[in-house]
Amino acid sequence: MKNEEQIRVIELLMKHLDEGVNVDAGVQLKNPTEVYRCPDMAMREWETFFRNHPQVIGMSADLPEPGTFITCSDFGVPVLATRDQTGAFRAFVNICRHRGVLLEGEARGKRARFACPFHAWTYSNEGELVAVPKEDHFGAIDKSCHGLTPLPAVEKHGFLWVHPKPDGKLDTDELLGQELAEEFDAWRFDRMVSVGSDTYETKMNWKLGIDTFGETYHFKRLHKNTLAPFMYGNVQTYDRFGRNHRMGLCFRSIDELRNEPRENWDIRRAALPVYYLFPNVQLNVLPRSVVLVRIYPDPDDAGRAVSRISFYASPEALKEDPDFVKTTSTTFGEVIRDEDFEIAALSQLGVDSRIHDHVIFGRNEPALHHYHNTYRAALGLPPLEEVKA
Ligand code: FES
Ligand SMILES: [Fe+2]
Repeated sequence: MKNEEQIRVIELLMKHLDEGVNVDAGVQLKNPTEVYRCPDMAMREWETFFRNHPQVIGMSADLPEPGTFITCSDFGVPVLATRDQTGAFRAFVNICRHRGVLLEGEARGKRARFACPFHAWTYSNEGELVAVPKEDHFGAIDKSCHGLTPLPAVEKHGFLWVHPKPDGKLDTDELLGQELAEEFDAWRFDRMVSVGSDTYETKMNWKLGIDTFGETYHFKRLHKNTLAPFMYGNVQTYDRFGRNHRMGLCFRSIDELRNEPRENWDIRRAALPVYYLFPNVQLNVLPRSVVLVRIYPDPDDAGRAVSRISFYASPEALKEDPDFVKTTSTTFGEVIRDEDFEIAALSQLGVDSRIHDHVIFGRNEPALHHYHNTYRAALGLPPLEEVKA
């Protein structure tokens, strides 16, 4: 995030605090509850946003050196992603070309060759079929035509992107836009170190999980013992970048900056920048670490989601205090899993009762307005209706 933008956001938060106001979308919107439970919609979302849309599968730090790999099976197409011997990021369909078995079962590791668990056809981390046992018995096979199926893969701004379709279009400039791309470069996410991961399984529609990241109105009540002691509630900034957005959540320590020269201001002392990347990513930029959250739907159960949480630290922070990461992952779980997603599961109960046909997004919840109208437009649905006074 560029310096002048950090200062603009900090000043805006101070103004909100001083004037007792918050971001204001100007209107309230009605959101139909069926978007959280309709099986047809769940299937359309799955096809449109997951099976046929570029996916962030991690950050550069997840493939820290040549020969490392990660796998991902959360969006319908099993992916094997590698860093080859030249350091290049590659992605393949994680399926053996012999009889179609899932090739690599581990979530991550270091391996230059991948031997299938069924009959041991073996592939390089560049996707080539390099060995077929007993080929004289099996019959001749043209190895050059039976490598792993490559997928579009791009490593940029410290993120790993994959398209689940072999002929899919993957243009990260288009996905982020220039402003956000430059902001990400300024963060130097490519320097981060992977320090762990977690998985939360929740009885909530995946969008209810996204919704909990979309406002700070709930901080004083829901997070009264966790976030509220060090964050102001109902104070935030909100900026859109095409289909994506950034929220600035206000730390109480912002007050310490008031007497310091502006050139010393660092947004991470004043606020928590939280980026939403369409369709399912929330990126939290904490003072010494970054937490990447990916929320996936269950296409067969609109009321269930799986969230992959990945933790990254700056090399300096790790050197200073190697144990701080444990605290980050514990605290993140206590807030996001045990409070936000617990409440999202209670929202799901309300949705599933089918008593109310809509919920309300307030004027101080602009991220929800933007996010819901964005995915609705992508599905060809009309924008949300305004609440008339
Ligand atoms: S299915 Fe992979 S080697 Fe046979
Ligand atoms: Fe929350």
